[in-house]
Amino acid sequence: MKIRKAVFPAAGFGTRFLPATKAIPKEMLPLIDKPLIQYSVEEAKRSGLEEVIIVTGMGKTAIEDHFDISFELEMLLKERNKTDILRMVEELSNFIHFSYTRQKKPLGLGHAIHCAKNLVGMEPFAVFLSDDVIDAKTPVMKQMVNIFRQYPYSILAVQRVPKKDVHHYGIIEAKKIAPRVYKVIDMVEKPHSQDAPSNLAIIGRYILMPEIFTALEEIKPGKGGEIQLTDGLKALLKKQPVYAYEFEGDRYDAGDKLGFLKANVSFALKNSAINKEFRRYLKGLKL
Ligand code: UTP
Repeated sequence: MKIRKAVFPAAGFGTRFLPATKAIPKEMLPLIDKPLIQYSVEEAKRSGLEEVIIVTGMGKTAIEDHFDISFELEMLLKERNKTDILRMVEELSNFIHFSYTRQKKPLGLGHAIHCAKNLVGMEPFAVFLSDDVIDAKTPVMKQMVNIFRQYPYSILAVQRVPKKDVHHYGIIEAKKIAPRVYKVIDMVEKPHSQDAPSNLAIIGRYILMPEIFTALEEIKPGKGGEIQLTDGLKALLKKQPVYAYEFEGDRYDAGDKLGFLKANVSFALKNSAINKEFRRYLKGLKL
């Protein structure tokens, strides 16, 4: 079965990044010169996906406008003969097929994914949380799509984190069944380090079976009245296997100030247009 559709939940309030995220979604914060969501949309395309479904909340227009045609801007760039920039802007609006749906209230990640039910239909699909920025030679979703061929059920991207940080993540209890592949036994949302079943943390890339929608309908709201994806996955686990895949790549939590800065520095150091000057600047800092 082919994974064709990618869901991008982007309706959270991004409270860790206020006031920057008061009027624009955190997915629109720029890493060097592209908003976070563009990196993950590019990852979706490079992984062979064909359709992008964005779940928006407030600040909806900023995301829609970003991936839409800007007639005035394209005219201006044409008049000024800025052909390279023009090509880049044109490519963006022709990039991939986009649809949008709205989460009226931020009732949790599980609820946001459920909002895409009608657009996804009854087929397995990918989910991208754009604030998890992953720098990888092979796009992480492509790695996961390859694993899906062999294990055609839900697959969670996981990464080992220091024990002291497990309380920031959903943590899996799992049995290793192949290199980098685990069969999930259970999972727990944000455990205390002494209660964590492992240090394998769930990161923002998923392949989900369509049965997740029924599972999300069956569960009750958890912490803070939110419909948690982890609870939905636990309900799904009772009906069918769920796998986890330890991806290859460097991940940054760009929804957090420090993670966002680290991502900017690493990406700047790899950007051939600015890295020489930036490296010189960093070396000159009296730390
Ligand atoms: P986070 O847990 O990072 O929450 O959401 P948040 O509200 O965006 O940010 P903080 O923690 O308050 O700073 C993870 C992903 O789920 C989406 C977010 O947009 C983000 O991509 N999300 C979360 C929704 O779409 N709707 C929700 O109700 C909650």
